[in-house]
Amino acid sequence: LRSPTGCPISPRAAAFRPFERPYQEDPAAALAWARAEEPVFYAPDIGYWVVTRHEDVKAVFRDNITFSPRIALEKITPPTEEVQAILKRYGYNLQRTMVNEDEPDHMERRRLLMADFLPERLARHEPMVRRLTRAHMDRFIDRGHADLVAEIFRDVPLKVALHFLGVAEEDADELTRFAAAHTLNTWGRPTPEEQREIAENVGRFWQKANAILDRMIADPSGEGWMYETVRQHFRHPDIVPESYMRSMMMAILVAAHETTTLATANAFRLLLERRDAWEELCANPGLIPSAVEECLRMGGSIIAWRRIATREAEVGGVTIPEGGRLLLVMASANRDESHWENPEELDIFRDNAVEHLSFGYGAHQCMGKNIARMEMRVFLDEFTRRLPHMRLKPGQSFEGLCNIAFRGPKSLLVEWDPAENPERREP
Ligand code: HEM
Repeated sequence: LRSPTGCPISPRAAAFRPFERPYQEDPAAALAWARAEEPVFYAPDIGYWVVTRHEDVKAVFRDNITFSPRIALEKITPPTEEVQAILKRYGYNLQRTMVNEDEPDHMERRRLLMADFLPERLARHEPMVRRLTRAHMDRFIDRGHADLVAEIFRDVPLKVALHFLGVAEEDADELTRFAAAHTLNTWGRPTPEEQREIAENVGRFWQKANAILDRMIADPSGEGWMYETVRQHFRHPDIVPESYMRSMMMAILVAAHETTTLATANAFRLLLERRDAWEELCANPGLIPSAVEECLRMGGSIIAWRRIATREAEVGGVTIPEGGRLLLVMASANRDESHWENPEELDIFRDNAVEHLSFGYGAHQCMGKNIARMEMRVFLDEFTRRLPHMRLKPGQSFEGLCNIAFRGPKSLLVEWDPAENPERREP
């Protein structure tokens, strides 16, 4: 077995199966061998060069000219003809957004649309996040158990995202179903039968996103980032073209909430599994911002992202041919023994946790990172204060959707004794 450059493929590289366990269960652990022995390798199962070390992942992110992001939203499993026909029937036509746009168009667009993401503008949303968080907690705080994903971590980021975008409240269940379909359609390996149902949902999602956008175009006077996008489109149609708006409307409906839902669930799981860290946070809420960063390092919700080489180039001493596709595994970089001290330890005092690559790096680094951080901070603040005695329900599985990019559990079951709630004991 040889790679596209003619080099022999090692048995472990040949055996790498990213859609199966153990990678799906713990991607960083499953790639420990690669970080130690073969940090950049060609994986024939997906036809990608897998990049596993912090230094190399960061270097590829940094050079978005040599390593173009244009394949970031490409379907990793080629669609069957039937699926192509289904998508066509819905008029589905996802093209460039922000995350998969090349320079110089990308930077011009990003600059034009940046204002709403600046910290001073984001601060406006914090009271809403707190109010929603408290209201959702009120519904289960006296019950003694909850599924945090179903009962709060899905709903609050979704409402915040819709508010930020300027989209009226939509059917949350439908959007959740659409988000799952988009994830599996882009980053999963569904069977041909599964693909059919996924394609129907992706098609419906496309039409829904377009209907929302059409209303905004008809009256672009509203508040929110997508309204601002429509207004900028009318001013600068060359920088913010119509195809961008249509593709972005769909993509951002997922990017703006699913990421935060999963990262929050991962963070709570990590902290509750390490009781000392959780109790430390309850005693010392000043540590919450650094705990958020450390949880994003160990439990970021996007575990891998993609680039394509626009010319022959070297990564970690390995030659990548022009057109070579790269899978940058941030989950592995975030636990790279050559970058982090005790990478397997969740250390809420770690002073360089912010060097994690969970938001990407460089020109395309996540625009929404400070919204996500703020939401995670508020969640931790409210839960450590109001439910410090909460525990994970033993014996649960933390399974998520099988795919190569988004990682987080479908449910997170917790329990506590309501008689011990601080609000009851010290009302
Ligand atoms: C880009 C992760 C939340 C909007 C990205 C990228 C990653 C990422 C990995 C690609 C970076 C790169 O190519 O270098 C995450 C994670 C989140 C999160 C882990 C939550 C914990 C959000 C939210 C929003 C958002 C809440 C919007 C409200 C965007 C946008 C881009 C992006 C617009 C494209 C930026 C560009 O290409 O210039 N995000 N994201 N993200 N994200 Fe996020």
